[in-house]
Amino acid sequence: MTREEFLRFPVMTKQELAEAVQTAIGQTRASLQRFPETFKHIFSTSGFYTEAPNNQWTNGFWTGQLWLAYEFTGDPAFSRAAMLHTESFRHRIEDRIQTDTHDLGFLYSPSCVAAYKLTGDIRAKETAVMAANALLERFHEKGQFIQAWGRLDEPGNYRLIIDCLLNLPLLYWASEETGDPTYAQKAAAHVRTALSVLIRPDHSTYHTFYFDPATGNPLRGVTHQGYSADSAWSRGQAWGVYGIALSYRYTKNPAYIDLFEKVSGYFLSHLPQDLIPYWDFIFSDGSNEPRDSSAAAVAACGMMEMAQFLPPAKSSFYLESAGRLIKSLYELCGAKDPEASDGLLLHGVYGRKTPYNDCIDHGIDECNLWGDYFYMEGLRRLYGDWNPYW
Ligand code: GLY
Repeated sequence: MTREEFLRFPVMTKQELAEAVQTAIGQTRASLQRFPETFKHIFSTSGFYTEAPNNQWTNGFWTGQLWLAYEFTGDPAFSRAAMLHTESFRHRIEDRIQTDTHDLGFLYSPSCVAAYKLTGDIRAKETAVMAANALLERFHEKGQFIQAWGRLDEPGNYRLIIDCLLNLPLLYWASEETGDPTYAQKAAAHVRTALSVLIRPDHSTYHTFYFDPATGNPLRGVTHQGYSADSAWSRGQAWGVYGIALSYRYTKNPAYIDLFEKVSGYFLSHLPQDLIPYWDFIFSDGSNEPRDSSAAAVAACGMMEMAQFLPPAKSSFYLESAGRLIKSLYELCGAKDPEASDGLLLHGVYGRKTPYNDCIDHGIDECNLWGDYFYMEGLRRLYGDWNPYW
């Protein structure tokens, strides 16, 4: 859509925001009845989550959703449940259960860092620092990046993915808390490398990028969850928007302002008329392909994060952009009846198989845990004055 069309889209009013917040809290309360102590699977099935062990990349989001509900309400039922989860995260990092991944920031920022920031719990802080230590192990000196998935000694795994930008705040935070600059230095090196290879000339982004294990030199961009190597996976673009904003928060590298605007500009100009992105930006109005509501939620949070560092006119533009995205999400994708779904945000996509990616079809037109979480974070940010868990 054009900028003019986008600017005509109404922003969320205070009353609509209050209504959306109450709905999200009600949905979270109902979900807590079903999952009083346990975790949920990555995505819902016919609108409802099933139980899952704490061994997936998404476990931190349900905990984070509980912390957000606690912030909105002050209700100890939410904080008690979230604190219980932090012990499970302790066990997971001590016993190294499915920690052969860069997703440690997704796991430990909205759970244990949030617990520490909101309650001062020292054990949660120690647990998050343990996770930051494990994440540092994945930094490759030669390539100057954090490896996404799998064993570090397998040359076929020598790559980064754009999603990792959201794992970096765990490292920046660990430097602030421990006084050891190493964590932040590696995070800053990773983001430098990632942004030098992932952003294309038209400011769309690659999902993943391979490097040569022998030299550390960049090799090629490919996709895992997007339509094809050269298309723009909408959630990947959103990870870029939010990830650049978060690295700006911690590094204040002025080059990231310009990159943020370009990557966000691509995101906004490829939205369909109702602002709910198709799962890949190769699709737009008139397509029968599914939407990925979670991409809009992630991008909205990134815009609100960056807005606080920009001059007034630009700041208002991104705050209002986020308000438009969240309004559309609430109206078109917000779950409003716990009998119909125990998620918060309908119409997400986890993975969609195409002839050009290595994904399977799963979690299509369903809620997913990060969609729920970032939608609620977006509501919390719109409310104002939020200390991020990231
Ligand atoms: N970080 C994995 C995903 O966005 O699906």
